[in-house]
Order: sequence, then C-alpha cells, then structure tokens
Amino acid sequence: MIGSGMIKFFSAILVAGITLTLISFIGNKAIIAQELEKDAVPIEVIAKVKTEPKQVKTTNNEEVAIETAEEAPASLEELIASADLKKGAKLSKKCAACHSFNEGGKHKIGPNLWNIVGSKAATKDGFKYSKALISFDGEWNHASLNEFILKPKKFISGTKMGYAGMKKIEDRAALIAWMQTQSE
Ligand code: HEC
Repeated sequence: MIGSGMIKFFSAILVAGITLTLISFIGNKAIIAQELEKDAVPIEVIAKVKTEPKQVKTTNNEEVAIETAEEAPASLEELIASADLKKGAKLSKKCAACHSFNEGGKHKIGPNLWNIVGSKAATKDGFKYSKALISFDGEWNHASLNEFILKPKKFISGTKMGYAGMKKIEDRAALIAWMQTQSE
C-alpha cells in the first residue's frame, strides 16, 4: 500500500513539473511573439522616413525641374553632334566583315554603305536584299539607323543582316556620326 502511495505521490510531482515546464515554454513563445509585434512598428517608421525626402522634393516643382534637367540623358541628336569620329571609325570594324563604307566599295555579305545616311533603304544597285528590308520601305536617318543598329532583327523582322546589335547609345551615335562622313 505504501509503495502505491509513493508512486502516486511522485507521479503527481512529475505531472506538476511537466505542466510547469510547458507553461513556461508557452510563456516564452508568447513573449517572443510580443517582441516581434513590437519590432514591426519601428520598421514601418523607418520605411516612412526613407520615402519622405522624395515626397518633399516633388512638392517643390522648381527643384524637381532643375534636377531632371541635369539628370536627363543626352538625346540621340546631341550624342551624334558631339560624337568622337575616331571612336565611330573604330566601331565600324564591327560591320566591316560584311560591309564596305568607301565610295564604289564592293558589296560583301551586306551592301556597300557609302552615302547610306539619308538614303532610301534597300536601293543599292546589284545587292540582293531580303523581302523584309525591301518592304521596310523607309529611309536611313539617325533615328532609324539607331533602332536598326540596336537590334536589327527587332527593328526589321526577317532581315538577313546577321548582326546581334550594339547596346550602348553612345556607341551607336558615334558610329552613325562616322557613317555620315562616308558620303559626298
Ligand atoms: C554578318 C554580316 C553583317 C554585319 C556584321 C553587319 N551587317 Fe549590315 N547588313 C548585312 C546584310 C546581309 C544586309 C542586308 C539585309 C537584308 O537584305 O535584309 C545588311 C544591311 C544593312 C543596312 C541596310 C542597307 C540598305 O541598303 O538599306 C545597314 C544600314 C546596315 N546593314 C548597317 C550595318 C552596320 C552599321 C553594321 C555594324 C554595326 C552592320 N550593318 C553589320 C550584313 C551585316
């Protein structure tokens, strides 16, 4: 009888112990959750503080106008007007495998490009153009050359010009400025 009484006594202590441990564990979790909830507020505040300077600027129209004028990238025309022709000549080497640029130059894989700026597309005698370039029916001016050299196949879908494109607008502007010198 004493034995079973002792077992009951000790198991009561054991159950109490486990219960206490559980309670303190849940309590800790609750505290962590509370702490997280508290932290969420200051983060929002930080985010607000960070976006505020921009909002302040937009309320001052004059200030914004000055800033955008300074930051605006140069236009294609400005870049062509101020282009380094030597740089353009160097870049033309990327085209030279397929194009000659000199007067009376031979057609290669692509047509001779003497006098190309300002001329109608697909009109060089003796070159067999793709249907795509013929039906483009446009003129090679600064804007169209810029688009074509950027991504030939995007600008004239179906062109047989096998050139991926020149990414930098500064490079295209320098090349176009130099191409313009290859004319009468
Ligand atoms: C792998 C060969 C190849 C390279 C490299 C190449 N082209 Fe061409 N290009 C062609 C071919 C082929 C055509 C004719 C496309 C057609 O008929 O669809 C052409 C057409 C053109 C035309 C239109 C000519 C016209 O008479 O209407 C221009 C302008 C031109 N290329 C410029 C360039 C420039 C600038 C570069 C260098 C950045 C270049 N190409 C690089 C093969 C090439």
